[in-house]
Amino acid sequence: MVSEVLAALMPRSGQVFVDGTLGGGGHAEAILRSGAKIIGLDQDGGAIEHCIQHLVVYDGDTVRVKQANFRDLRTVLTAFHIDLVDGILLDLGVSSAQLDRAGRGFSFQKFGPLDMRMDASKGASAADLVNSASPEDLEHIFRTYGEEPRAHRIAAAIVRARESAPFVDTLALAQAVEKVVPRHGPKHPATKVFQALRMAVNDELGALKQGLEAAVECLRPGGRLAVITFHSLEDRIVKSFCRETTAATVDRPEWPEPRPNPRHLFRPITKRAIQPTPEEQRANPRSRSAKLRALERLPARR
Ligand SMILES: C[S@@+](CC[C@H](N)C(=O)[O-])C[C@H]1O[C@@H](n2cnc3c(N)ncnc32)[C@H](O)[C@@H]1O
Repeated sequence: MVSEVLAALMPRSGQVFVDGTLGGGGHAEAILRSGAKIIGLDQDGGAIEHCIQHLVVYDGDTVRVKQANFRDLRTVLTAFHIDLVDGILLDLGVSSAQLDRAGRGFSFQKFGPLDMRMDASKGASAADLVNSASPEDLEHIFRTYGEEPRAHRIAAAIVRARESAPFVDTLALAQAVEKVVPRHGPKHPATKVFQALRMAVNDELGALKQGLEAAVECLRPGGRLAVITFHSLEDRIVKSFCRETTAATVDRPEWPEPRPNPRHLFRPITKRAIQPTPEEQRANPRSRSAKLRALERLPARR
């Protein structure tokens, strides 16, 4: 959704943009081509390495990259001696590089360690979670993040299996799920379980909520925020943030009349979520669930 992102962010020469999810650097490069500067973050050290190589043609004042979680954006900008920026992009979820590399453990189709940490240097891995979480917690993760209706049966089967040997690799987990959830159609039965574990391991929804609040602090008046989600729970968080921060007034049944909304911080740019064109969806099937929402920061009220 490169052209849609550019239309939403409207980068211009000399402006400073944050790409909070550098990944392969495609969006960052498109923003750079407009003449704007980029502060690029990714919590994945591999993505940072890739972008250092990929964006080497730009000088160090035009592109600055840092391995960091976008939830820590305020701290990162302060370290770069930057107060406010002109725009922020968050293109959420997992990158194709992460999915394709078996050693990262994101794919149920490739043999690898059951890891799934985007920042492989810290925190508990998917194996740690699968081998130590209570059956109730596993069921909650599968049901909530994976929207997996057979969450209870899958959690129980995992807990039974780990009593004989802990889960170490991706395929062992995928096979354990397939034993209780037989294949129906083209989708692998472990799809939702893997997605749910990835979201839990990386606290993706918690980071998103904090990242949105960081954007409030870091955008100059007139600055723009664009967020691409791939999951209904992510989109729900972004949608409710948009609703909460674009309403001029708030009302409660016990109040005689609506009151000014102290969180009226943004103007909506897109009326509703923008989805990729049919051509993009055909070319890149993963983009089918993508939704882009964009906002413009209002001046602080006196
Ligand atoms: C969908 S990819 C981004 C693709 C990128 N826009 C491009 O043009 O190639 C998502 C990237 O965001 C990173 N990521 C996800 N959550 C993050 C977070 N909370 N903080 C920093 N990076 C994050 C992942 O490591 C991954 O590299």
